[in-house]
Amino acid sequence: MTRIAIFASGTGSNFEAITLACHQGIIAAEVVLLVCDNSDAEVIERAHKLGVACFVFNPKLYGSKQLYETRIVEELHHWQVDLICLAGYMRIVSSTLLEAFKGAILNIHPSLLPSFKGRQAIAQALSYGVKVFGATVHWVDASIDGGEIVGQRAFTYEGTDLSEVESLMHATEHILYVETIQKLINKRDK
Ligand code: GRF
Repeated sequence: MTRIAIFASGTGSNFEAITLACHQGIIAAEVVLLVCDNSDAEVIERAHKLGVACFVFNPKLYGSKQLYETRIVEELHHWQVDLICLAGYMRIVSSTLLEAFKGAILNIHPSLLPSFKGRQAIAQALSYGVKVFGATVHWVDASIDGGEIVGQRAFTYEGTDLSEVESLMHATEHILYVETIQKLINKRDK
């Protein structure tokens, strides 16, 4: 069975959606590890409740990104991870991790890529005046939000309230991330 590590820095609603989908057998995989760069993040509490092991690190205690990513890679090997899902991980992944897990790192981004890359994607889309929003799951490569697209899901919204779009986005992301992982694993296991 596929062994997943989820990387998150904050709330962890996507972490929870994926983990629950694994528990319920919707995804034929097991979330074996949470990797988190923020010891105050709400996602850690969610991991404890769901019985998922955590590797929490403080990037400031390492001399460089290469050093902390090398430590993360050790942890991922220890847990025999096959697939990494970035879900609100607020750091750019470098070649150390990319080379160790080639073609095995997914990310979810809160826009219909290639529109609105980078931070504050929802606010960017809102201030542009778009009426169709959406989320994208893509493979991670050395570019910023530029890797191959695996799945997208859209919704319409005609208002101006950021927090309303954020909650619609989260609901959309949870469905999209679960169905995309499920499809990838089914294809791989065929
Ligand atoms: C999501 O909107 C995701 O697209 C972005 O960060 C947010 C994480 O939300 N990369 P959560 O921590 O999963 O609730």
